Amino acid sequence: MKLSGKTALITGGASGIGLAAAALFAREGARVAITGREEARLMQAKAHLGDTAITIVADVRSREAMQGMSRQVAGAFGGLDIFFANAGVAFATPLSGTDEARYDELMDINVKGVFFSMQAVSPILREGASVILNTSWLNEVGTPGLSMLSASKAAVRSLARTWSAELLDRKIRVNAVSPGAIDTPIHARGGSTPDQVQAGKDRIASRIPLRRLGEPSDIAEAALFLASDASRYMLGAELVVDGGFSQL
Ligand SMILES: NC(=O)c1ccc[n+]([C@@H]2O[C@H](COP(=O)([O-])OP(=O)(O)OC[C@H]3O[C@@H](n4cnc5c(N)ncnc54)[C@H](OP(=O)(O)O)[C@@H]3O)[C@@H](O)[C@H]2O)c1
Repeated sequence: MKLSGKTALITGGASGIGLAAAALFAREGARVAITGREEARLMQAKAHLGDTAITIVADVRSREAMQGMSRQVAGAFGGLDIFFANAGVAFATPLSGTDEARYDELMDINVKGVFFSMQAVSPILREGASVILNTSWLNEVGTPGLSMLSASKAAVRSLARTWSAELLDRKIRVNAVSPGAIDTPIHARGGSTPDQVQAGKDRIASRIPLRRLGEPSDIAEAALFLASDASRYMLGAELVVDGGFSQL
């Protein structure tokens, strides 16, 4: 098992990529804690992950909640070997029509949330820990209407470099995984009808060189690689897993 004896915390671990990573990390021997905003969704995830999984209700936008999350993880695990800063949202912010509240919501979850969750867990990260940040293929391309989503993920990509440098003396490696379009609940969170969501996915799939959306497990496998010693010579890097979308 690749993560035998290790402990892992995954924000946004109740669905999609985070849940797939939690299940894979647990199968590979890690003790796993997941977070999210909704107790009910976390309980459903726990039923899937098994009784040893720890669930923590915590909104990444709150620095205080992130510190509470870190205390809970320290109490349960003692320390942390793997931190996957995965929680995030995706919605459009067209130049005309985007108000301050929508801007703040996106940047608070996708950037501030990553910063303060990392700040909170940093003291409990063990020497040699692996941190994985979830970015997006969108930080490489220009897509009309997606300015702040793309910029938020460009900011997170930058954090992987800076934090790797900042935590070098503790031998903590910080890398990013950059998903392409992955088939998760995120596409249905905008209030579109199921038919509209499916049509949107079909449109995207037709543009992807591999002609399909990715599965959450496609990203979980990449996160496992970054979490494990197999990636021991990587730090500050971004692993692109997007079916060739941003590359071909
Ligand atoms: N799916 C894609 O196509 C794609 C592509 C590129 C990057 N990504 C990135 O992958 C990550 C995971 O997304 P996903 O696709 O797996 O979608 P998802 O199923 O919607 O997962 C996002 C998770 O983040 C949690 N979350 C959102 N806001 C939160 C907050 N304020 N505090 C705590 N948790 C919060 C959600 O839980 P609650 O709502 O229950 O709190 C949810 O479990 C995101 O960072 C996303 O940007 C996804």
